[in-house]
Amino acid sequence: MRVLVTGGAGFIGSHVVERLLATGADVVVVDNLSLGRRENVPQAARFIQGDILQSHEWIRSVGSIDAVIHLAAQISVALSETQPQKDVMTNVLGTVAMLEAARTLDCHEFRFASSAAVYGDNQKLPLNEDEVLNPLSYYGLDKMVAEQYIRHESDRRRVTGIILRMANVYGPRQRTQGEGGVVAIFSDALAKGRVPFIEGDGEQTRDFVAATDVARAFCHNLGQANRSATYNIGTQTATSVNQLWETLATMAGLDVSAVGRVQSRAQDIRHSRLSISRATDWGFHPLVVLTQGLEETYAWFRQTDENG
Ligand SMILES: NC(=O)c1ccc[n+]([C@@H]2O[C@H](COP(=O)([O-])OP(=O)(O)OC[C@H]3O[C@@H](n4cnc5c(N)ncnc54)[C@H](O)[C@@H]3O)[C@@H](O)[C@H]2O)c1
Repeated sequence: MRVLVTGGAGFIGSHVVERLLATGADVVVVDNLSLGRRENVPQAARFIQGDILQSHEWIRSVGSIDAVIHLAAQISVALSETQPQKDVMTNVLGTVAMLEAARTLDCHEFRFASSAAVYGDNQKLPLNEDEVLNPLSYYGLDKMVAEQYIRHESDRRRVTGIILRMANVYGPRQRTQGEGGVVAIFSDALAKGRVPFIEGDGEQTRDFVAATDVARAFCHNLGQANRSATYNIGTQTATSVNQLWETLATMAGLDVSAVGRVQSRAQDIRHSRLSISRATDWGFHPLVVLTQGLEETYAWFRQTDENG
């Protein structure tokens, strides 16, 4: 099968591309390299440097496609608040453009990277997919609106829309700047021998899911989905930032008390955890145990640091 992956040079996208290639798929990546890196894309995939908002420049060169996995996005929650127009352009109009591209390419399956941010601060944990959507940021709002466009498109024509609402994804190749995940920030600091900071008391919890598990979810039954659906993708496990730090610091042989403390951001959600029972009924099960995933991530940051 031939699959178009937007944002395939980014963190999650590169894991999705690796997984697709391992399953024998023919992969075309489109990424404008605004944040992604060319070296993240394996040689076996075809790479087009292009923008999702300028698809007329590259669409003719793509050829026929069986499925689109749409990950390209503006991922910074903070930037979505200061530049909401940029967020809506990339995350809503960009998704609409990729739905149109799927139509042009006569492609019948569209998979979308949505986020737990669509739920906002709802403490009925673990959150299931039918919970009310009440995003706290433009980023979450634009993901919610993009989801609606996908549902509308699936109702109107023969495209199956699979929406994956991801929890906190971590793993090798995640960036530390901008919206860098806490695992990447801690691992990078430890690899460089720097002391990181914990925001607030560190007792806030998140549902950390490995990028390789997320990649398996994106590839699960690809091309065989016969009805549109929305799935939470996480582990349904709460881990506090303190626990995360203790595990990583111990791994690095460091005194766990050697960490800075700063005030938490006012808009931060205290606890976040997704119910994955719908996804497990679908056949998706996270396989990576957190300690194992953290070891792999820390090892990657150490190796990257050693190689400059
Ligand atoms: N990282 C997480 O924890 C997480 C959680 C939930 C959802 N998501 C979603 O998963 C997707 C991938 O996130 P990521 O963490 O890998 O981020 P990332 O920034 O590493 O990847 C996004 C990629 O999209 C590319 N891109 C951005 N704008 C583009 C445009 N206009 N045209 C073409 N390419 C463009 C970037 O260059 C980058 O390679 C995003 O849609 C994000 O919203 C991520």
